[in-house]
Amino acid sequence: MSSLEHTMPDNAPAVLTNEQLKQYQQDGFLLLESWVPDDLRQQLIDRAYQLIEQADLTEHNRFSTTDRAQINNDFFLESAETIRCFFEEKAFDEAGELTQPRAQSINKIGHALHDLDDVYKAFARRPEFGALARDLGLQAPHLYQTMVIFKQPRIGGEVTWHQDATFFYTEPTSVITYWFALEDATLQNGCLWVEPGGHTGPLRERYFREDRDLRMEPLDDTPWPDDTSGTPMPVKAGSLLVFHGHLPHYSAPNRSEKSRLALTFHVVDGQITYAPENWLQRPTLGTFSL
Ligand code: FE2
Repeated sequence: MSSLEHTMPDNAPAVLTNEQLKQYQQDGFLLLESWVPDDLRQQLIDRAYQLIEQADLTEHNRFSTTDRAQINNDFFLESAETIRCFFEEKAFDEAGELTQPRAQSINKIGHALHDLDDVYKAFARRPEFGALARDLGLQAPHLYQTMVIFKQPRIGGEVTWHQDATFFYTEPTSVITYWFALEDATLQNGCLWVEPGGHTGPLRERYFREDRDLRMEPLDDTPWPDDTSGTPMPVKAGSLLVFHGHLPHYSAPNRSEKSRLALTFHVVDGQITYAPENWLQRPTLGTFSL
């Protein structure tokens, strides 16, 4: 099955050039610089830290892609329709105490900021984001998930190679990821890595939810890229990297002194059946159309 059966529209694109569309089809991703104005970017950052300050962090719920067994399933599943803060895997010492201030201990905030927080909701409502999804072939772009990913100084965790369609399964694949750099992303602070053209490959894994249980199931044994076949994507603050649901991507740990805040959207075509086995379901919040 080709992952590009999601055909591009016949009419002229609204926010992209034909060159950019061609580039996206060829590489599976596109870098759009200066898509977040500085004042707005600062608002999103400030609001993220306010959300951490306001959060009830008495439970130490961590997030890890290297050891998913660490994740508290209930806390994670409930975050689909609320706003929750997840700690970095390495935020605590052996005595269970935070080794850095709480604002520098959070791995990510997710997953319904666009529904429940006014700053993030206003940002998601900007018309260019819907236009972009339509330019990339989605008939009815639905925003399923927002995350603020901190990649904290010194302890920011690795995100292992994966494809986002693993988590947002539809047939055919429709999920598109928007990855906004809220701060400069560099090789030192854990910028994204991608495999150019890798979106034409198969989906390797699928993440299933069965009631309150979660499991990763292998689908295809195509090897993941490495640092020779992958390409680092250092980008300036305000850039938007948009990529296909089959594009393998990765980010290294952050051992530098600088954070690397990113905001992500996961956008799925509402014209296509969204798998009921996907972990993220929105029975209460319903549809958020871009
Ligand atoms: Fe991802």
